Amino acid sequence: MRPAVLVLAALVFPAACDRSPTPTPTPTPAAAPASVSTPDAQVPPTPWRPAAIAHGGVGSPPAWADGCRAAVDAALNVVDAGGDPVDAAVAGVAVMEDDPRFNAGTGARVRLDGKSIQMDASVMRSDGHFGAVAGVERVKNPVKVARAVMDSPHLLLQGDGATRFARTLGMPDYDPTTPESFGRSRQQQLTLLGADAPEEWRRFDWRAHWNFEGPIPPELRADGGAHDTVGVAVRSSDGRFGVALSTGGLALAMRGRVGDVPLLGAGLYAGMHGAAAATGAGERIVEEGLARQVHGWLAQGASAKDAAERAVSAIQGRGDIGIIVISPGEFAVAADRPMAWAGRDSGSSAWQGP
Ligand code: GLY
Repeated sequence: MRPAVLVLAALVFPAACDRSPTPTPTPTPAAAPASVSTPDAQVPPTPWRPAAIAHGGVGSPPAWADGCRAAVDAALNVVDAGGDPVDAAVAGVAVMEDDPRFNAGTGARVRLDGKSIQMDASVMRSDGHFGAVAGVERVKNPVKVARAVMDSPHLLLQGDGATRFARTLGMPDYDPTTPESFGRSRQQQLTLLGADAPEEWRRFDWRAHWNFEGPIPPELRADGGAHDTVGVAVRSSDGRFGVALSTGGLALAMRGRVGDVPLLGAGLYAGMHGAAAATGAGERIVEEGLARQVHGWLAQGASAKDAAERAVSAIQGRGDIGIIVISPGEFAVAADRPMAWAGRDSGSSAWQGP
């Protein structure tokens, strides 16, 4: 059972923009490291200061923040060159998809059968444009397929339709498994027969509903506490926001299970007041319509920090949860446990992170 108060990290970083007066540094919450400071208050407010923030999934070791910093660098390179904020977020997420430590793209989590990988990804821009894939297989960068869906008449492609669509984009067959992903799966899975199996799996007759190809393997184990989705949220100098998510989903998952990532307003959302990208227990995030709620709170005047903390509070105790939020003048992160993340304003060398 989790303790009652679970927000372990909730940090906020004001930035300059033309829609607000010179920002007043927000008091650092008691739980945040004392060393956190507001970055580059001396940088002049040039209409909006581009910024990006990335997370490596709730439960990812904070030591992996270097991967998040690489993602932020890639994202800021795009917006600093005048690129679209959603393309910036895609560039950032693709960096983490290519990093086998994270549960997305190469190295994505192997599912319950110990063999298959089905991946979800999504993108959204603050003008309302959205694209997603669910259950895509054997592609290197699911987030790039989701970006292409955004330019199609559809919002979401799933399963073999998504995979075939990727082939039409010239994306070749690609095996995202790694020796490490198989090893991690075997090590981290807990036996469904054991006392440590999650309650919802003890109540569910999964043997009767086995929907993978082939028989149930002799040993079934599940990831009991590893990392999750990767995400990037971006603010561009023209006042727009872009956000992208990618995940291998849960290890304890039937074939075809889809979580929060490809569902508009659940795992991610971008609107005129900012953008949010969640990580954690997908089913709970979907029930809350969490990222869209966060945007609603921003629209009502909540700070990015308050919105992030409120999102974590909405889920805490019912599943793992973390979130990044970016607004016209801030970015913030909150999670119910440590996770790898990084953020910075364009032109600033002041990294924020765990
Ligand atoms: N948050 C990722 C998932 O539940 O699939």
